[in-house]
Amino acid sequence: MLHSRFFMLIACSAVLLTCAVWGRVLRVSYIGCFVDDRDRDLNGLADITAIGAESVGKKFTKNSGMTIEFCGDFCSLGGFTYFGLQNQQYCLCGWSYGRHGKSTETDCNHPCSGNSSQMCGGVWLNSVFSLTYPKMSCFKQSKMPNLTVSSTLPTSWSLAAQTALDCLILCEASADCQAVIFSGQQRLCHLLRFTYPPASLSSTDGDYFVRG
Ligand SMILES: *[C@@H]1O[C@H](CO)[C@@H](O)[C@H](O)[C@H]1NC(C)=O
Ligand SMILES: *[C@@H]1O[C@H](CO)[C@@H](O)[C@H](O)[C@H]1NC(C)=O
Repeated sequence: MLHSRFFMLIACSAVLLTCAVWGRVLRVSYIGCFVDDRDRDLNGLADITAIGAESVGKKFTKNSGMTIEFCGDFCSLGGFTYFGLQNQQYCLCGWSYGRHGKSTETDCNHPCSGNSSQMCGGVWLNSVFSLTYPKMSCFKQSKMPNLTVSSTLPTSWSLAAQTALDCLILCEASADCQAVIFSGQQRLCHLLRFTYPPASLSSTDGDYFVRG
């Protein structure tokens, strides 16, 4: 088992350079119009206060240029499987949806603030979409992003690893891992919950790989 994983990653590393640079989403599919509540249906951003330049509060980010593409890209930074658009300009991410029930399709009729030919839910209503990722990951080495994630809970964890490949295998084994920083000197693998590192790791001396 360990061997087959090892060889999959080797095979994958041969195509590392062709990994999609725009992210790892295979497919975005519309699911439907769902009811929301103060106790958010899509609650994946509960502990997050900022992702890159977007501030997050009360489990959502909000802006006047909201589109389906923006919210999908944003939620894919955390590897979330679902995202929801609400009331023209709100974007929410999560691992499940539907706790508060489904609404009538035509109720999600608020145009998105960034593209009026797209629908972004309604008042306390989410237009819910799914994000599909490839079964097997590809890792692309790149420059450490100059953007960070801020959170009230840790968004990284560290494990011992002898080589960068060991570090990638650890990341591949966890759905929560979107990128790694491998510190060869310390033989330490920092696994990141989001594509961006927390500020505490942003100047770590190591090799950064993003899951693609
Ligand atoms: C706005 O959304 C429509 C429907 O999804 C899409 O076809 C169009 O390309 C979008 N416009 C822009 C400027 O992205
Ligand atoms: C961060 O990186 C992006 C792209 O790599 C670049 O366009 C931007 O100017 C950088 N911002 C800062 C503050 O360094």
